[in-house]
Amino acid sequence: VRSFHKTLYLSNNQNYSPGLVGVIASESSICTVGTGEGLNYRGYNVMDFAEHSSFEEIAFLLIHGHLPNKKELDLYVSKMASHRELQKPLKTILEQLPNTSNPMDILRTVASTMGCFEPECDNASLHKSKNNQWESADKLIASFGPALLYWHHFHQNGIRITTTTLPQDTIAQNFLKLLKQTQEPDEDMVHAVDKTLILYAEHDLAASTFAARVTTSTSSDLFSAVTTAIGTLRGPLHGGANEAAYKLISQFSDPDQAEEGVMKMIKDKEIIMGFGHRVYKKGDPRSAIVKKMAKALSEKINTQESKDLFKIAERIEKVMYREKKLLTNLDFYASVVYHLCNIPTSFFTPIFVIARTSGWAAHVIEQREDNVLMRPLSNYVGPDPSSTEFRPLLQ
Ligand code: ACO
Repeated sequence: VRSFHKTLYLSNNQNYSPGLVGVIASESSICTVGTGEGLNYRGYNVMDFAEHSSFEEIAFLLIHGHLPNKKELDLYVSKMASHRELQKPLKTILEQLPNTSNPMDILRTVASTMGCFEPECDNASLHKSKNNQWESADKLIASFGPALLYWHHFHQNGIRITTTTLPQDTIAQNFLKLLKQTQEPDEDMVHAVDKTLILYAEHDLAASTFAARVTTSTSSDLFSAVTTAIGTLRGPLHGGANEAAYKLISQFSDPDQAEEGVMKMIKDKEIIMGFGHRVYKKGDPRSAIVKKMAKALSEKINTQESKDLFKIAERIEKVMYREKKLLTNLDFYASVVYHLCNIPTSFFTPIFVIARTSGWAAHVIEQREDNVLMRPLSNYVGPDPSSTEFRPLLQ
């Protein structure tokens, strides 16, 4: 049966590419991953951003299309701060959700719920009105951290936290203040979280961004596109890899044990999380930046645990290169950075959501500019219709 249909359909469909490997599905002026020329957001080198910018500048650039000047940036930071006050119905829903939920399911629900209470536009004008897309994107980015941490503290500590902090606080500052319920989070940790947000903000047609564009291509709304994208990011082959990478690293108590364990995993043909990339075959340019931050944090914290964690990670990196010629992606050392910032492991991928919503929104806006419904074909390999006879159960 399979061979019959391969003959019938493959001859008309020579471009079949499982996993869409190598397929160019849209034109984009947002990010340069596919060009192999280094990583740029709207033409600017991301390495410069990681050195000199805050995540808010990058979110503004991606969503609003140009780098903000000082006045625009200050306004943007305080506007984002004003969106941190959660609406009462959203808080009620967060209180009702189980304390055992996966935090990614919480954020997926937050995106969907916000689409109910503050829709981009009414259904009748969905495909025409784009007026609220920028505002809706900003609201989502600003609300995700506060909503997640409201849910967390309500269920873990039995308190209803105030989600607003100072109007000049960045998203990284607000996140760490709310998480730790302190007015003075460690500055190096704020810096580290802010930099990872920049690095996670955008990455061309990664699976979640592609999913967001597919949803948008049906003339659907931004909240639906972001909800779709969160569901796609959740898996360990994509955003979930930062949590999976930490689980891998943390099972070992010293570098020698890590080497032995990873050698066994390689022998058993297991996938090692935080390594490899669909596009970057010569290394992820973001990786060196997070590795440097992980090293600096482990030295600053200067406990046996922090130093061991970094050494174990480095040994796994060495073994993977020696044995498989595979290099770390952003997720591997980002997981070390987040752990050293005392962030619970199940919040690693939600932080990725906060960052990447800026990239998803940029792609939703771009897709709408020149939309074509995304509707690929499959290569049918099922039963031969001419040899299949239907006999109704009810005569
Ligand atoms: N561990 C072990 N082997 C690997 C890994 C890995 N992490 N990554 C790739 N390989 C192997 C593959 O099994 C394959 O081996 P084979 O040829 O013997 O079958 C070979 O390397 C080539 O891999 P590809 O098929 O070219 O990789 P692909 O492009 O399909 O997959 C992916 C990329 C999914 C990211 C893969 O590298 C992987 O599963 N990595 C682990 C998960 C991960 O870290 N994801 C995060 C991605 S980055 C991000 O979301 C920020």
